[in-house]
Amino acid sequence: MTAAESIVIVGAGQAGGWVAATLRNEGFTGRVVLVGEESYAPYERPPLSKSLLAGERPIEKCYIRPPVFYTERDVDLRLGTRVEEIDTVRRRIALSDGERLAYDKLVFATGARVRRLKLPGAELPGLHYLRTIDDCLAIRAALKPGARVVLVGGGYIGLEVAATARKLGCAVVIVEMQRMVMARIVPEGISRYLAELHRGHGVEILTEVGVAGFERGSPLRVCCDGGRNFDADLVVVGVGIEPNVELARAAGIATEDGVVVDEFGRSAVPGIYAAGDVARHFNPLLGRHIRLESWQNAQNQAIAVARGLCGKPVAYGEVPWFWSDQFDLKIQIVGLPERWGEVVLRGDMAANRFTAFSLADGIVNAAIAVNTPLDIRFARKFIAERQRLAPSALADPQIPLKTLG
Ligand code: APR
Repeated sequence: MTAAESIVIVGAGQAGGWVAATLRNEGFTGRVVLVGEESYAPYERPPLSKSLLAGERPIEKCYIRPPVFYTERDVDLRLGTRVEEIDTVRRRIALSDGERLAYDKLVFATGARVRRLKLPGAELPGLHYLRTIDDCLAIRAALKPGARVVLVGGGYIGLEVAATARKLGCAVVIVEMQRMVMARIVPEGISRYLAELHRGHGVEILTEVGVAGFERGSPLRVCCDGGRNFDADLVVVGVGIEPNVELARAAGIATEDGVVVDEFGRSAVPGIYAAGDVARHFNPLLGRHIRLESWQNAQNQAIAVARGLCGKPVAYGEVPWFWSDQFDLKIQIVGLPERWGEVVLRGDMAANRFTAFSLADGIVNAAIAVNTPLDIRFARKFIAERQRLAPSALADPQIPLKTLG
């Protein structure tokens, strides 16, 4: 690697920010250009549905590095700017401000965008999505005590915003089209438990109900299939995200629900890498390509890619880990099961303190820890080692997890 080498990072979110910071921490002395369309320096998104939304955390505490870091470490941070085109043969990019830049290596850290509802009235004011700090601030301004909030989608966004909105004194309804909330993420028993928890905190949850559209009401009316309507001061839609792959696809790079890369974050096109939410990467531990929407992946896969760019390749392969805060629950999920197996409960659901292990054909393939953070490292180990454990032992709190496996 020569000092004159130039690395362009497309996307200045958590992953893009970590690539840039790691390049400098690893001693890379070439040019680093970090291009992002938002106007904020790289930040973490988890607080956007939790403490930032609740007004308990300032924006500055969401940044992965203080903004001054980028000038101090000679990272050319181009905010409010999009990469419009990539020529992978001549290794040049075109920016939205008209500038063209040459690169030697390029990292896609373009992340994902919210899936939008294509329904009548979905463009009416009062209907929000939550992905960026600006989205969060707009929603926060409307979360007043007594405000009527309707959440479309009972996934991470729906349940976390519901908990925050209840804490702020809003009246909350969740409209989920599937049979259960968090269906993508947890098995049925845990979904039921979470729904009951929310109902206990005064959240109304409708399942197997679709939204037909929105009308001007007082001020906004959510029209559900089956004829039930809700007047709302605020609607927040959280119906999933989709990876930003268009730029890569237009540049001839393989995409398949994400930019396809190996365990080092390398695409099949020389000099092109991907990290974070957009990267459909090979995970050696799981033995398959996965795309992760997680804080852990946005940071650690980005670090791995940056090390590779510095000539110190490390295969990235962790047990996936996710977390969610809802009311007094700290929920942690480890593993990415292709299917849930037998669910073994350790601890006390009624006391909101338990770990649920999933055993697929007797082998631990996932765990969900509710207010039991100390169980996570053992769960992670069991999953990584594909441990075959006796359900009766896992379920017995008298048997320490460290003695198992
Ligand atoms: N009406 C009602 N519900 C819907 C509709 C619809 N038209 N379409 C989808 N849903 C439901 C899904 O059934 C699912 O329960 O919306 C929920 C979406 O949940 P997630 O997939 O968790 O997506 P979301 O909550 O938007 O979170 C997106 O943000 O918190 C981060 O990284 C986290 O991956 C997560 C991302």
